[in-house]
Amino acid sequence: MSIQKSQIEAALGTVMEPDLGRDLMTLGMVENIAVDEAGNVSFTVVLTTPACPMKEKIKNSCIDAIKAAVPEVGSIDVNMTSKVTSSCSHHGAHGGHGNHDGHGNHGAHGGHGAPQKIDLPNVKNIIAVASGKGGVGKSTVSLNLAVSLAASGAKVGLIDADLYGPSIPTMVGLQNVKPEVQNQKLMPIEKFGVKMMSIGFLVDPETALIWRGPMASSAMRQLITDVDWQELDYLIFDLPPGTGDIQLTLVQNLAISGAVIVTTPQEVALADVAKAVTMFRKVGVPILGLVENMSWYELPDGSRDYIFGRQGGEKFAKINALAFLGSIPISSSMREGGDVGTPAIIASPDAPTSVAASRVAGEIARQISILNANCSMN
Ligand SMILES: Nc1ncnc2c1ncn2[C@@H]1O[C@H](COP(=O)(O)OP(=O)(O)O)[C@@H](O)[C@H]1O
Ligand SMILES: [Mg+2]
Repeated sequence: MSIQKSQIEAALGTVMEPDLGRDLMTLGMVENIAVDEAGNVSFTVVLTTPACPMKEKIKNSCIDAIKAAVPEVGSIDVNMTSKVTSSCSHHGAHGGHGNHDGHGNHGAHGGHGAPQKIDLPNVKNIIAVASGKGGVGKSTVSLNLAVSLAASGAKVGLIDADLYGPSIPTMVGLQNVKPEVQNQKLMPIEKFGVKMMSIGFLVDPETALIWRGPMASSAMRQLITDVDWQELDYLIFDLPPGTGDIQLTLVQNLAISGAVIVTTPQEVALADVAKAVTMFRKVGVPILGLVENMSWYELPDGSRDYIFGRQGGEKFAKINALAFLGSIPISSSMREGGDVGTPAIIASPDAPTSVAASRVAGEIARQISILNANCSMN
């Protein structure tokens, strides 16, 4: 007796997506099921991100479920692909989160009525990377996140919005590059598979230094809206450090999918990270979680020196009901990556810090997928 397609569907209907809590068939994640006369089966699983940390696990669960339900099955060919889901923060979508009417009276826009929330319809998810203060590795994390997601196959953009100390141009070895203008749009600079735009490509640091509130805010707006981003799965937004007016205006007026907060272990003793958490919660931007950078220094014998204290980030995350997205140790490859112009993830992908940074990237993509699934189910 030949195997029926319905038997395969039934078997895959028992495979749960570990994060989304529903089975693959209900979630519509299985396509192109085919069974031939010899009982060989093939199908495609469409994940919600190419950076899915559960990829292998889901694939194996599919194979196991089919073998259990249909023991006479021949070969099983699972094609794993992905289609990144879109954020509910886009206009017109009504997610379970977000305070979409809480803006309109801040900074440069006072007196003009409620400004339009900046939305980029072709950008599926905008991820803001923030920190309580500078120097914690926010730009390093942003860049390695962008490069890692791009390496997994996603379409990725990166904005460096640090007016007073743009660092992405140096970190990718493009100090003297000027973006082209086409059809009145700035063309992003592409490197390491990532489309980048930095305030550092546009003005010299001395000019940016004298900008205040309104000027700074409008420059920031241009980095987002006047750039020809085309279609992106993820736009990583390396916010200026801190939680001042410029940051608040930005996170209020931009359709951000979720925020990632970067800290070092000792910094959480200070009130700075708490301020960033408060800022995002106040404007209704979901916080994807906390990344702890410079968690320890790995000694040549493999032991760890917890220079800045131990697990401060993880404890802080727990107390504040935030997801902990992972720890990235201190390494010379990470520091050199920044100085030499090749991100550590590319220059030394197998170094423990690079592996940790890739894992963090997968975790962030995963949290975005969960967020998008939850609000589309509501
Ligand atoms: N995990 C790490 N290991 C070693 N050096 C790091 C690490 N993270 C960041 N750095 C270095 O620390 C400095 C500050 O990092 P940066 O990403 O520019 O911080 P921020 O954007 O928060 O100001 C840079 O010189 C960078 O290369
Ligand atoms: Mg920075």
